[in-house]
Amino acid sequence: MTHKTPPNLTVVPDATALAQAAAKRLLARFAEPRERFAVALTGGSSPEGLYRLLATDPYRSQIPWGRVHWFWGDDRFVLQHDPRSNAGAARRLFLDRVPVLAANLHPIPTDAPNEDEAARRYEAELRAFYGADRLDPARPLFDVVLMGVGNDGHTASLFPGKPQVDETKHWVVGVPQAGMEPFVPRVSLTFPALASTRDMLFLVTGRGKRDILSRILAGADLPAARAHSDGDLVWLVDRDAAPERRDVA
Ligand code: 6PG
Repeated sequence: MTHKTPPNLTVVPDATALAQAAAKRLLARFAEPRERFAVALTGGSSPEGLYRLLATDPYRSQIPWGRVHWFWGDDRFVLQHDPRSNAGAARRLFLDRVPVLAANLHPIPTDAPNEDEAARRYEAELRAFYGADRLDPARPLFDVVLMGVGNDGHTASLFPGKPQVDETKHWVVGVPQAGMEPFVPRVSLTFPALASTRDMLFLVTGRGKRDILSRILAGADLPAARAHSDGDLVWLVDRDAAPERRDVA
């Protein structure tokens, strides 16, 4: 399956503008009249600016911390204090610096005996939070899902050529072999679970992402190009990563 329509790209001048645009998008969701919100965070370097910003005013004071639940789209199967942990990185960059409730943090349980068991437990946690075993497109699991893209076209921990890309039954899978470093097992949400969101936001920065973005725009069948959303799907891209001259938002 490749793109029927090209991805909806929003090009901003630089990484700072990208972090601001993403933070504004989150705040706009949090301004909606809902009892609670759910965000799926991502790993890698692209969301770091956003995470720092969320711990800083004016964003910090506008986030209804008591009503926002933080999940992860994927993690490396390492403990949280390990520098490779996506949950650990988000905690250091913002979640440990804000008035978040411990009950609202939902890291992938990487203290499980193995990555498959961690996936099974996380899937059970997501189903309990959602309150049903089947995802209803009219009632998305998440409000915002943050995504990144690797140089090989992977997203979350769904790597090209690996069976997890085609998983449709499970919400979460263990990934015994990562396709890119760090080469530790991973745990990843699957495309159907990631798609259950009002907003899916890809964050892409830097010259190093230009080639993979060109391939995705040209319709290459790569995992990141297969990502879909029950709601909006936006690629927030800085000018360095944008494949060709495009108008800057
Ligand atoms: C992970 C990420 C992964 C990431 C991309 C991009 O756990 O590795 O969730 O999907 O988003 O690899 O990473 P960079 O932003 O560092 O390029």
